[in-house]
Amino acid sequence: MAAQTVIETRELSKYYGEYAAVDDLTFTVQEGEIFGFLGPNGAGKTTTILMLLGLTEPSTGEARVCGFNPIREPLKVKRLVGYLPEDVGFYRDMTARENLQYVARLNHIPEEISSGKIDEALDIVGLSQEAEKKVGAFSRGMSQRLGIAEVLIKDPRICFLDEPTLGLDPDGAIRMIELIQSLSSDRKITMLICSHNLDQVQRISQRVGIMIKGKLVAVGPMGELAKEKLGVGKEKYTLEEIYMKYFREV
Ligand SMILES: Nc1ncnc2c1ncn2[C@@H]1O[C@H](COP(=O)(O)OP(=O)(O)OP(=O)(O)O)[C@@H](O)[C@H]1O
Ligand SMILES: [Mg+2]
Repeated sequence: MAAQTVIETRELSKYYGEYAAVDDLTFTVQEGEIFGFLGPNGAGKTTTILMLLGLTEPSTGEARVCGFNPIREPLKVKRLVGYLPEDVGFYRDMTARENLQYVARLNHIPEEISSGKIDEALDIVGLSQEAEKKVGAFSRGMSQRLGIAEVLIKDPRICFLDEPTLGLDPDGAIRMIELIQSLSSDRKITMLICSHNLDQVQRISQRVGIMIKGKLVAVGPMGELAKEKLGVGKEKYTLEEIYMKYFREV
């Protein structure tokens, strides 16, 4: 059976004044994929995610998430999507569990269902022991993992993860990547991941998109991009080599 397209943009652009932060972006992500969304600082990745979430309006073009227009049907999109932002924000005076309870209420999840979901999510991200600790006392990695727990209690079909391993120690980053991979394979959640850590993206992604100065300069399976950019003879490649080839051409 052909995979279903769950994320789609068509000639999507976002201007801030004269400046094109996102410039004529057309791409799709298929259901169940882990899609690596790459590009240097300021390329327009976060802006694209904000448009897909309906949090900022496109200047021109269109976005669709599971067939819904995020600007016209924001609640439908919100129900299907989990979002880990660049800076996860929680109430510092509240415990991890209280923060998740608050999120569950915001999402209208009844308490008899949410308490089980919260336990499960805390367990998945390895924070069960820290559940009653105030988030103000959390390390960056713990907050990041709580961010994933927050995403999970919504049971999303799609996750947008903006720099999920930023600031994590090597062990924490590996565990985060393995967690993302297992959520993709066990729960079939489609993942769009922005990251500057190309080794990690290479480990888990099926397809990648490379965005530079607002434009998508490459999109496809890594093997195909490697053939195109590094030559057919190069069977062992790194995503970093592919990325740098595109980066140097712009
Ligand atoms: N609200 C805003 N007003 C004006 N310019 C903005 C705004 N938000 C983003 N930009 C600009 O749009 C461009 C793209 O920014 P964006 O945050 O999408 O980049 P990014 O690819 O996520 O970068 P990074 O890897 O650093 O997170 C940048 O030049 C940024 O300065
Ligand atoms: Mg960003």
